[in-house]
Amino acid sequence: MYYLGIDLGTSSVKVLAINDHDEIVGDVSREYPVYFPQDKWAQQDPVDWWEQTVLGIKELVQKLSIPRNQVRGIGFSGQMHGLVALGIHNEVLTPAILWCDQRTQAECDQITTYFGQEQLSKLTGNKALTGFTAPKILWVKENLPEIFAKIKHILLPKDYVRFMLTGDYATDVSDASGMLLLDVENRRWSKEMLDFLEIEESQLPKLYESYEVTGVVTDAVKAELGLEGEILVVGGAGDQAAGAIGTGTVEDGIVSVTLGTSGVVFAAHESYAVDEKNRLHTFCHANGKYHSMGVMLSAASCLKWWAETIHPTVGFDALLEEAADVEAGSNRLVFLPYLMGERTPYSDPDAKGCFVGMTATTTRGHMTRAVLEGVSFGLLDSLEILRALEIPIKQVRVIGGGAKSPLWKQILADVFSLEIQEINTNQGGALGAAILAAVGAKRYATVDEGCQAMIEVVSRIYPIHENTQEYKRIYPLYADLYGHLKEWFEKSALI
Ligand code: XUL
Repeated sequence: MYYLGIDLGTSSVKVLAINDHDEIVGDVSREYPVYFPQDKWAQQDPVDWWEQTVLGIKELVQKLSIPRNQVRGIGFSGQMHGLVALGIHNEVLTPAILWCDQRTQAECDQITTYFGQEQLSKLTGNKALTGFTAPKILWVKENLPEIFAKIKHILLPKDYVRFMLTGDYATDVSDASGMLLLDVENRRWSKEMLDFLEIEESQLPKLYESYEVTGVVTDAVKAELGLEGEILVVGGAGDQAAGAIGTGTVEDGIVSVTLGTSGVVFAAHESYAVDEKNRLHTFCHANGKYHSMGVMLSAASCLKWWAETIHPTVGFDALLEEAADVEAGSNRLVFLPYLMGERTPYSDPDAKGCFVGMTATTTRGHMTRAVLEGVSFGLLDSLEILRALEIPIKQVRVIGGGAKSPLWKQILADVFSLEIQEINTNQGGALGAAILAAVGAKRYATVDEGCQAMIEVVSRIYPIHENTQEYKRIYPLYADLYGHLKEWFEKSALI
């Protein structure tokens, strides 16, 4: 039997298959566009997600010659927070407003003023952030009242694909945690939040744990996919929780770091623990427990910008070689990685990227290295909050595009002053989604058992003492800069 993981990302959908022998047998990806119709807006057409997912499943089944009746389960990893609004005939009422859309600062302020931060944190475990779903619903209510009046179903991105596969309106608690509508501690919708937005529970999807079966693929869709037999669909998870399953981040003490477009520090914990200042997100985990995470909006994308926009003819490898020749600390040149504003720890859509500390001796190698170090310091900001919350950090596992660079992983080990573990797979969310499907199909008894079967540590990177000492001197300089520049960022946004 095969278990599919559908990773519905922002730029593409990936479909991955695992088998009954704990092997990843293959994957395919298909792209779709993101639309930026105005400054700060980011939208997608849910129909694109569905069409490309169907094509992706068909392509994978064909590529791997999977027999028609051998797909047993499907799980999801989904880009989080996006708002999909459906009408009475399940028609998409308005383009999906995505996680990276920044139009809702006024709505966030309105929610925070109404409840007060302490009460909002009691109700939802979090604070109102422009990326989250509740402010988007409020934005639609205030700016598109005729659309708001027609909303029959509110779904998250991956749950639209689930609806198309099964006809069920369902979600999982890890993804629902990012809506600012969930009472995260008790894993149920917050009545107070629903009342404030004037929405009914019947408009929201039914809640499940990530590994629970929410329904089965309909006969019509199976016919379209060329598949037969009962295909179970499980809750699945938000992409960060699914990615953590795909790195085996399921126990106290394991922290995963994602060096993707965004940068994430993710800690799994047994019991509910909330940061008093809500600097970290407190969400349900996909294994029935909880997690805390800090999210930087630009991580590997800073290197991509540096390599592709600023040095389009040089290439990543040459730039990274130059950076490796420069000593740790980049001669005290500091890069602030706020190319898209920042979420953790500052929640500031106006923050900007900067190089601070250039001299006549600064080279391109220094600047490239400063980019890698600046992103690493940004991740350290979140790690330090975890440390302050006394969340144990024993093992760190790194995934994402940036994890392909040995230099960047060494810098992370040095900046964190922690050993970095390399695992046998970089498949992250898609693998996590497939493991959740296999748990729902009873191939594994628990999510943790699935992780043990599929994921192993293959090597370790140890911190280099002198570099760690240098970074301990520089990090306070980095951490100070935002405070000095905040007012300037605000002013420059107003001009
Ligand atoms: C998590 C987050 C991103 C998006 C897109 O809070 O905003 O991980 O889900 O990947």
